[in-house]
Amino acid sequence: MNTPAVHSRPRPARRSWAEPWKVKVVEPIRMTTPEDRMCALAAAGYNTFLLKSEDVYIDLLTDSGTSAMSDWQWAGMMLGDEAYAGSRNFYHLEETVQQYYGYRHVVPTHQGRGAEHLLSTILVEPGDYVPGNMYFTTTRAHQELAGGTFVDVVIPEAHDPASEHPFKGNVDLAALEALIARVGAQRIPYVCVAVTVNMAGGQPVSMANLRAVRELTQRHGIRIVLDATRAVENAYFIQQREAGHHDRKVAELLRELCSYSDACTMSGKKDALVNIGGWLAVNETGLYEEASNLVVLYEGLHTYGGMAGRDMEAMARGIVESVDDEHIKARIGQVEYLGHALIEMGVPIVRPIGGHAVYLDAKAFYPHLAQEAFPAQALAAYLYEDAGIRAMERGIVSAGRSKETGEHHHPALELVRLTIPRRVYTQAHMDIVAESAAAVFDARERAVGLRMIHEPRYLRFFQARFERLA
Ligand code: F0G
Repeated sequence: MNTPAVHSRPRPARRSWAEPWKVKVVEPIRMTTPEDRMCALAAAGYNTFLLKSEDVYIDLLTDSGTSAMSDWQWAGMMLGDEAYAGSRNFYHLEETVQQYYGYRHVVPTHQGRGAEHLLSTILVEPGDYVPGNMYFTTTRAHQELAGGTFVDVVIPEAHDPASEHPFKGNVDLAALEALIARVGAQRIPYVCVAVTVNMAGGQPVSMANLRAVRELTQRHGIRIVLDATRAVENAYFIQQREAGHHDRKVAELLRELCSYSDACTMSGKKDALVNIGGWLAVNETGLYEEASNLVVLYEGLHTYGGMAGRDMEAMARGIVESVDDEHIKARIGQVEYLGHALIEMGVPIVRPIGGHAVYLDAKAFYPHLAQEAFPAQALAAYLYEDAGIRAMERGIVSAGRSKETGEHHHPALELVRLTIPRRVYTQAHMDIVAESAAAVFDARERAVGLRMIHEPRYLRFFQARFERLA
């Protein structure tokens, strides 16, 4: 009898990596039939935000507030000090933000947009301009509510889904300088730099670029405010892609990144591995005093800002876990795994693969659909129909309408975001997602567009309703 030799199986060229955690608790998922999904989709007006979560198989709507907490975070939840004022968990959070992000003062908020609201209310005057490396929905909405005008100063490569630029989130220094020359530095309260850029596909900013923005803005006395929502992911990309940083720890890179700014707004629901929470962190004492006063009106006292004590404890612990090199490598490694599977299957995605999500290029899926027929919205609906995978439109619907003309903004990017929650799904789930996206791609010629039948005034993508064109 022939016994196969021990070495007869082909070996992979490199060693695999795996997640630095194991599963302790599981959450069952309800399976649905194609008929169930057709009904659910019609009832949701073809908007994945309006689906019930129990009708979803693999939920890639967002990485926001959807992470799995560790046993150490859950243990911290039991140590919540629910005092109205001066909770010990606030002081722990404050200390942790100071240590890992490096800002002097911390104002807790219920989530990221709470921090954006405080900052815009305090710093933006009617007639001001707020330059940013591509817009984010809630960030721009708060700048505009305060009377400001958002100006996009991201490099042009960010708007090209095929460009392989390693730092597509970079600020276009010439565009920023031209804006300063045109409107004057006194009309620019701050430059908002998002690390990473969500709407461009989870693309990072390089250390060198941020340093250069710092140099330029310092000459004009303009602040830099980071949207630090995914700054840890950005720091990881710097470690991987930028010369001179390969041997440095992500925690160290994060500190340096933040050191080129004066303040940050933060949604703790992403990097910081919690289901709710955020903060505004600033260096200027005057700004802190105003923010810690204003927070009382909108969020809660300045030592809880809309969070329970236990939530602040979980976030403080989440920050510590988030900067661990092994954690972040596995987190982004999973996103890359899905991205590479899609590339191998010939499915068009935004390149390079982003930090928190893989973005399907709906324009490349459906060249026969006009942007007014909402190709990305239609694609998200087809994905759900195929296998119960929930994604999010990031195209013309998310871009909304111009404040001046009332016309649709027409973003160059018409994308569907497959967003990966942290520490939630397995590689097998990623395989299902890739196969489903490929099946939807194979059926692309039969796809039809959508008509919007209900359009809310603010951030319409959350609640708009559609029907399929005949
Ligand atoms: N900034 C960025 C870059 C974000 O991605 C988000 C939220 C916010 C600010 C606002 O934070 O939700 O805590 O109020 N992004 C979520 C997403 C909603 O799905 O991308 P929040």
